[in-house]
Amino acid sequence: MPSLNDIRSTFLSYFERNGHRVVDSSPLVPRNDPTLMFTNSGMVQFKNLFTGVETRDYVRATTSQKCVRAGGKHNDLDNVGYTARHHTFFEMLGNFSFGDYFKEQAIPYAWELLTRDFGIPKDKLLVTIYHTDDEAAEIWKKVAGLSDDKIIRIPTSDNFWQMGPTGPCGPCTEIFYDHGDHIWGGPPGSPDEDGDRFIEIWNLVFMQNEQFEDGSMRALDMQSIDTGMGLERIGALLQGKHDNYDTDLMRSLIEASAHATSSDPDGPGKVHHRVIADHLRSTSFLIADGVMPSNEGRGYVLRRIMRRAMRHAHMLGAQDPVMHRLVPALVQQMGTAFPELSRAKALIEETLRSEETRFRQTLDRGLRLLDDELAKLPEGATLPGEAAFKLYDTYGFPLDLTQDALREQGRSVDTAGFDSAMAEQKAKARAAWSGSGETSDAAIWYDLAEKHGTTEFLGYDTEEAEGQILTLVRDGAEAGEAGEGDQVQIVVNQSPFYAESGGQVGDTGLIKTETGAARVTDTKKVAGVFVHMADVTLGTIARGQGAQLSVDHDRRGMIRANHSATHLLHEALRRSLGEHVAQRGSLNAPDRLRFDFSHNHAVSAEDLSKIEGEVNDFIRQNSAVETRIMTPDDARGIGAQALFGEKYGDEVRVVSMGRQGNSGKGTDGQTYSLELCGGTHVARTGDIGAFALLGDSASSAGVRRIEALTGQAALDHLRNSDRQLGEIAGLLKAQAGDVVNRVRALADDRKALAAEVATLKRQLAMGGGGSDEAKEIGGIKFIGRRVEGVSGKELGPLVDEMKAKLGSGAVLVLAEADGKATVAAGVTSDLTDRVSAVSLVQAATAALGGKGGGGRPDRAQGGAPDLQAADAAIAEVEKLIGESA
Ligand code: ALA
Repeated sequence: MPSLNDIRSTFLSYFERNGHRVVDSSPLVPRNDPTLMFTNSGMVQFKNLFTGVETRDYVRATTSQKCVRAGGKHNDLDNVGYTARHHTFFEMLGNFSFGDYFKEQAIPYAWELLTRDFGIPKDKLLVTIYHTDDEAAEIWKKVAGLSDDKIIRIPTSDNFWQMGPTGPCGPCTEIFYDHGDHIWGGPPGSPDEDGDRFIEIWNLVFMQNEQFEDGSMRALDMQSIDTGMGLERIGALLQGKHDNYDTDLMRSLIEASAHATSSDPDGPGKVHHRVIADHLRSTSFLIADGVMPSNEGRGYVLRRIMRRAMRHAHMLGAQDPVMHRLVPALVQQMGTAFPELSRAKALIEETLRSEETRFRQTLDRGLRLLDDELAKLPEGATLPGEAAFKLYDTYGFPLDLTQDALREQGRSVDTAGFDSAMAEQKAKARAAWSGSGETSDAAIWYDLAEKHGTTEFLGYDTEEAEGQILTLVRDGAEAGEAGEGDQVQIVVNQSPFYAESGGQVGDTGLIKTETGAARVTDTKKVAGVFVHMADVTLGTIARGQGAQLSVDHDRRGMIRANHSATHLLHEALRRSLGEHVAQRGSLNAPDRLRFDFSHNHAVSAEDLSKIEGEVNDFIRQNSAVETRIMTPDDARGIGAQALFGEKYGDEVRVVSMGRQGNSGKGTDGQTYSLELCGGTHVARTGDIGAFALLGDSASSAGVRRIEALTGQAALDHLRNSDRQLGEIAGLLKAQAGDVVNRVRALADDRKALAAEVATLKRQLAMGGGGSDEAKEIGGIKFIGRRVEGVSGKELGPLVDEMKAKLGSGAVLVLAEADGKATVAAGVTSDLTDRVSAVSLVQAATAALGGKGGGGRPDRAQGGAPDLQAADAAIAEVEKLIGESA
């Protein structure tokens, strides 16, 4: 009996032998289709190849595509567990031709594979075609020899396949398997077609048209093929089972569930095991593709699926979380075909475990409330919407979980009542918000958040994505369209642009639509809505258009490196300076990073160099940077650094970086840095490239600020410093290694020289000095002199020297240096009772147009505006000496 893994391989290698490229399944979150919640068929990743917008280096492809149908248009969630063929997760096998072969080849391929390679008896097969497709009928007759009654013409949309309201489409032919007349049901198109006897196994679509929004349809330039066959269905058939859940793969998961809950896989808990097995697959694959449980969008669908499975585990009597214990069984089954599943194993386990732990805390109480409510109602009555809303609001029961719980009792929920209770709560929240004093500008974003929901951020995994323009805002009001030269704010349903928060600046880049382009200059977030601030640079862009959003890759790369380096810096600071170091602010821009932290004094050069070295050690370690989602309490429990006083939601993102041990730091294998952070980060620490500290300064009381560079900027900085060092060495004619000693010696030399110059200047100012130059005024020897280039502070010693040379007498020196005029006077001590140096200085400064001066009777000094009246000042002093003689 072939396993599902064998069947997948047989399918892919059959088409590979026939010239098809085996292409990996694309992620469950569509990268190129904003209108889809999840990838729901194989052709999603090839959409643009059919319309000719994109070409690749192959024209034939084959895939086994991961698909999720649990939200949006295709929602199978409610049926899962209760039917034989509903899944939230399944694999779609497909072969594709892009303008290469068409029906004449697609039909023979399918027939050969089914009847020869898979060995299905020909007489068990029949087909449907679109009622006007004579060509397909002819090919079926020729290739398969099917009689007319086994080629059923269907006039409805069942045989005209459309991807969605718009996009590539075309007539299709479906292949059915007849399980035999012991099972009830009629052939397709008959009144009993819903029975289980005739099961569709493969759909071949002849892509030849494109459907537009206005209802028109055009013929595509090329004719292509898109086929889809559910692996679980063909698997059941080839394994001789009627029920998909009896195939080997599903059965192994059901057994793992039975084992983990110590219950019988086929006993009364059968439905629960089926739900668990199915939901284990969808939740694990969604988490592996980057979806995290949340209260919105895709994250909320994931949460609904998880909680539904968890309730079923609870009903099996499990006391502790179960789901995460089943992950190894799933990885064992599917990890080879889908390596992303193996890679994300730890993340999946942790996400499931923490969600289940948390949900269990309210599950019991919620179920009791539900029982109490039901007890009040008559038998079989509908549960009031209010009660369902309370379960949702207080106990985290998604509506479909309540519905699922009631289904077992044949009851339903008043969904209209639920919706109005929800609307009422939103209105209350909004009223509370309007009174909160936010500016009226913000009001429009709150309205938009209400109308369109918040923006889904895709930028952790991708820098390019398609989004749908929900609206444009110009000058504070909504606009339907914007033209070249307009400045607008663009709102899309999903975006790879990071909106400024947590110190990380907003992304810039390009938004393109079919009719125009806009340059995004910044991205901000208001009320959960991402606001792309943009200038329309080409044509027009309009509400409702699909848009290609591309983030400026180089700039984002630099921001990422700076943000990750900030985490390493934070940890290095804590380890070097102490536990008191806490983040007080940060900036992660493309060109630099800035980190403010609590610390009371300057960081020593030695510590700075040690910190810089430690950050670089972890960069060179090049270990993987990991991201996990958990509750704030769990995050703190494992020691994650959180911002003090910051409000966190139900769950937080924990970014971990660096392995300890091999550099001699910390305990082997432990994570070096753990922080709560919503920012974007490098994949491996080595991507930071290099780290250079620019220095530490005071930011405010008790807060220091460090600025630093990473990557190319750090290297440029270091290279620049090195070049300067080289230049200095060249000027000094020294080796770079000697520069510091040489500069120190130069500084010492300079000091000695300056002292020598001062002495020489003084000596020069003294001139011949002494008695010969002195004037006799009433028996007192006096020298009055103007000198140049002698500073105020050198005047005192000069005056003393002149006094010593005179032996007995008075001196006055007027000096000008560095734009400052100074006057100093000296009187030898034998004369101070007759003449005071203070009065001499004061007389001189007054004559110079200044005022004041002071000191002792034997030496005084004062400042003056300038020395223009130097001669008059000397004369004034001589006069005063004459009077006192
Ligand atoms: N795209 C086609 C389907 O999903 C094959 O059925």
